[in-house]
Amino acid sequence: MTNSPTILVFDSGLGGLTVLREVVAARPDAHFTYVADDAFFPYGHHSEDEIIARVVPLMGELIGTHDPDLVVIACNTASTLVLSHLRAAYSVPFVGTVPAIKPACARSKSRRVSVLGTKGTVKREYTHALIRDFAQGCEVTLVGSPELASLAERELGGHEISDGDILAELAPCFVGDAADPGARTDTVVLACTHYPLLLDRLKKLAPWPVDWIDPAPAIARRVSDLLGAGVGGVAQSGAEMIFTSNRAHGLSATLTPFFGGRAVA
Ligand code: DGL
Repeated sequence: MTNSPTILVFDSGLGGLTVLREVVAARPDAHFTYVADDAFFPYGHHSEDEIIARVVPLMGELIGTHDPDLVVIACNTASTLVLSHLRAAYSVPFVGTVPAIKPACARSKSRRVSVLGTKGTVKREYTHALIRDFAQGCEVTLVGSPELASLAERELGGHEISDGDILAELAPCFVGDAADPGARTDTVVLACTHYPLLLDRLKKLAPWPVDWIDPAPAIARRVSDLLGAGVGGVAQSGAEMIFTSNRAHGLSATLTPFFGGRAVA
């Protein structure tokens, strides 16, 4: 592998930027290609068969075009379904993004954890297996949100999103006795990469304070481990952003921080 690896970060839309920014911070020496499959967004509204049939061949094309050293599937809705198919089909290393149920349950003091994801992610056998294996006696509430990913996209695009629209998606995460911190949800897993884009709003609207678990820093550590140590002093490499709809991103100032200040082609 070269000293300046190419990392391809893939999501259905802009949510994967929340994973990208952590990976960029961990590997400033890398070249980044961010691919948003916006032509097929939102994945949460598609069937399992449709997502497999979409992502597996598309990834083949992307690998052929960009020749990445590593691919991050920065999407829970896809990772909980297609990772095994991708690993069987292609030799590039893949790092997925799956609901952080194990660390959330290990941290929860009230033993009540909610998992906020797309309707697809909360239905997956993969997610149910994580709960069976790692709930550690916690009561886990699965909350399938139909619209929160789209709301996050809209807010990042500069549109006004109402508190009521966000709260309607968030409220089912808060279960138990509101008056008793020991008997109510104390931990919410952000099981969709779009949701950290709204974290300030989520914190403000939450009926009581909770820990919000975002797996992005752990994903960045995993990427670094797989690539091996970066070389200090290497100049920042470039970055590009691709939409499968072929639209221009037109969001430069908004996007720059996610790319660690790089100009995004
Ligand atoms: N960002 C994706 C995830 O982490 C989901 C958004 C969608 O429904 O496409 O699950």
